[in-house]
Amino acid sequence: MRFSSVSFTTVILAVLWLGEFAHANIELDIPGVIVEDSSTNRPGQAQTALVKYQGNPAFLKCHTDKEAYKIEHDALVRIHRGDPRRYGMPSKVKNMFVALKGSVQTRKGTHCLVMERLEGDNLTEYVKKVDPKKKDAILSSISVQLITALKYIHRLGWVHGDIKPDNIIVHDDAQTGEPRVTIIDFDASQQVGNDLKHRIGGTQGYESPEEFSPNPLDQYKRDSWMLGATIYSAAVGLPPYGISHSSRTGKDELWNRGYLKNAMAHVARTGEHLFPRIKTLENSSLLKLINMLLEPKVESRPAIRKLDTQLINDLAGGNTNGTPLTRAGNKFLSMMSF
Ligand SMILES: *[C@@H]1O[C@H](CO)[C@@H](O)[C@H](O)[C@H]1NC(C)=O
Ligand SMILES: *[C@@H]1O[C@H](CO)[C@@H](O)[C@H](O)[C@H]1NC(C)=O
Repeated sequence: MRFSSVSFTTVILAVLWLGEFAHANIELDIPGVIVEDSSTNRPGQAQTALVKYQGNPAFLKCHTDKEAYKIEHDALVRIHRGDPRRYGMPSKVKNMFVALKGSVQTRKGTHCLVMERLEGDNLTEYVKKVDPKKKDAILSSISVQLITALKYIHRLGWVHGDIKPDNIIVHDDAQTGEPRVTIIDFDASQQVGNDLKHRIGGTQGYESPEEFSPNPLDQYKRDSWMLGATIYSAAVGLPPYGISHSSRTGKDELWNRGYLKNAMAHVARTGEHLFPRIKTLENSSLLKLINMLLEPKVESRPAIRKLDTQLINDLAGGNTNGTPLTRAGNKFLSMMSF
């Protein structure tokens, strides 16, 4: 079949026009909110802005899709209304989740969440600045914090659904110098209770092998895999599967979906990984944790709630008989109970 050059041009123009349309920004005209700086949103993504809300600095996230707004809103409300002490955890666990300050609507009716404005870098940026000699200790601390936070939301019956370095903001505590994590982005979270469910979001590079099959999933174990891929990525600079560094373009490039699907089917079937041994870490407990979380076979992979207590105590700087010790510089971790 042949197209005349005229209709071909028309098609291209139409595609460009539609692309432009998809990039159109939400008009951030919201009573009581002063916009300081706003992002241009990519198609299908929420628009974000730095704002002043009730006189204070805040972060605004506007969803064109009301359902996506509702998912994120409900997850954050549930997390912050819950009581971690019911599960033997200190209330401070909730500080590891971005705070929700309110919700507002644009004059055109778009729904927006007002969240606390966080200091710090995302985990990818943060680890780039870490002294390689301290990488093991810092990643151990970050891992224990993430395990604790995820344990809490899992106890509530919810999963995060899109764990990746971009969704983890880290800053150094002013007093102790310890890294502190805050988890953001609850667009893909869901309340799963005891049911198997289909995913509602995710990011290439962090997807578990089993989600390439059409069956509903154990979402808790999917979070386990994504956490493993996130720690792996923080250590190595790339996630275990789905993204490679191209020496030709100097950029990280996504694998072709069909190729990724075949690779993951192989990994799930054989239980054997295709990625090379991690050379950037030495701490055997941290390496063991990554291996447990990145267990290819979902039936053998532990849920975060069931991770080995002794292993986590060791990562938290505890001794070997299972009692967390208070160590200088590790006060925060020692307050967490496992
Ligand atoms: C996280 O940091 C990386 C590396 O600097 C950056 O490219 C990326 O845009 C950041 N992600 C988000 C969601 O801001
Ligand atoms: C691993 O790192 C943690 C945290 O720095 C430390 O407490 C632990 O002793 C280390 N474990 C091993 C086996 O090196």
